[in-house]
Amino acid sequence: MKVLIVGSGGREHAIAWSVAKSKRVDKIYCAPGNGGISEYAECVDIPAMEFEKLADFAEEKKVDLTIIGMDDPLVGGIVDVFEERGLKVFGPRKNAAVIEGSKSFSKDLMKKYGIPTCHYETFHSPEEALLYLGSCQFPVVLKADGLALGKGVLICRTLEEAEAGVATLMLDKQFGDAGNTIVIEDFITGREVSVLCFCDGTHIAPMTSAQDHKRAKDGDQGLNTGGMGTFSPSPFYTDEIREFCEKNIYQPTMDAMKAEGRDFTGILFVGLMLTEDGPRVLEYNARFGDPEAQVVLPRMKNDIIDVIEACLEGRLDRLQLEFEDNAAVCVVLASDGYPEHYEKGKKITGLEQFQDKEGYYVFHAGTKLTPEGVVTNGGRVLGVTAKGKDLKEARANAYRATELIHFENKYMRSDIGKAIDELS
Ligand code: GLY
Repeated sequence: MKVLIVGSGGREHAIAWSVAKSKRVDKIYCAPGNGGISEYAECVDIPAMEFEKLADFAEEKKVDLTIIGMDDPLVGGIVDVFEERGLKVFGPRKNAAVIEGSKSFSKDLMKKYGIPTCHYETFHSPEEALLYLGSCQFPVVLKADGLALGKGVLICRTLEEAEAGVATLMLDKQFGDAGNTIVIEDFITGREVSVLCFCDGTHIAPMTSAQDHKRAKDGDQGLNTGGMGTFSPSPFYTDEIREFCEKNIYQPTMDAMKAEGRDFTGILFVGLMLTEDGPRVLEYNARFGDPEAQVVLPRMKNDIIDVIEACLEGRLDRLQLEFEDNAAVCVVLASDGYPEHYEKGKKITGLEQFQDKEGYYVFHAGTKLTPEGVVTNGGRVLGVTAKGKDLKEARANAYRATELIHFENKYMRSDIGKAIDELS
């Protein structure tokens, strides 16, 4: 079987690794891919937003299945283009990917169907938003409606900060048209948990839990990033919480999307906040998390192709997802200065030590293969994942592994998974 993966980050590397393990797959392409993905896949220089060119490629190479890793092509309708051309593709159609593409859509969906989330209001003009802020308790959370590389969320502690935030999103348009509409939400606190779920349009199968660390610096300080590291499972996501979410969040979301004529097939990423009043949905995404995929997929026992086919054939309810009874931690090695200014093109050494090293994985995010070897090519460079019998062991293994990799301006947080220490 031939598989094409669309995307170029650490998440797509983890997907490619998982697909490469399948006995049913004999050829993998990745468009556009990266230096690390080329170990498993032939990387093809077609940008992820060139839907017709990607479909031409899939047709020409007789690709049996295309997996879309990234949000932009999903929200832009790549799945519809592939389906119109009779090509098998895994991901939600445009009318379902809107669950990630529009924050106001997802908030309205939750309100209409009674799915637990926090109070919010939607605004289409800065004047209305500023007027509303006058009646708010602070902090509040401002969210750009559209896609903003995970960065269009501002936590504002005072009225002044919130007014400046409205200007940033709606007047200065820091995130372009994504800020034409904004959502203003109550600020809620608790543990964040990410639960990625396989979906077949009707049934939903949640995977093991994970937690991301979105801020650039230790102690959750600094700017928001695409994610600086993850651990899985989250010890805060107890069986009781899982059962609550299955009953009140996951299946109700599938049913709500179906009732709206937007059947969701693909990966639904549910971002939860475990508050004192119970779990609340912070956000939905329409794809695997990055770097959540880097800790969840290495723990999955199923053949990913079997699961994806069950999704595409609407028989997910007849398949049992299985995860190893262990833990994984992923520490992101970034270029110092990320997410603002940083240099690229630095030679990376030490990668060869991970060749076939059981329980250790180096997923490439921003790298490039050059005649001189692998060099840095982005803010987030590598995700170093290690497994262990429990989170403590996985964390110690992951941090030890980061010491084996070197490049100039290497930067990482030193407290990924540290929250688990509080439990011991
Ligand atoms: N790790 C957060 C995301 O993938 O959006």
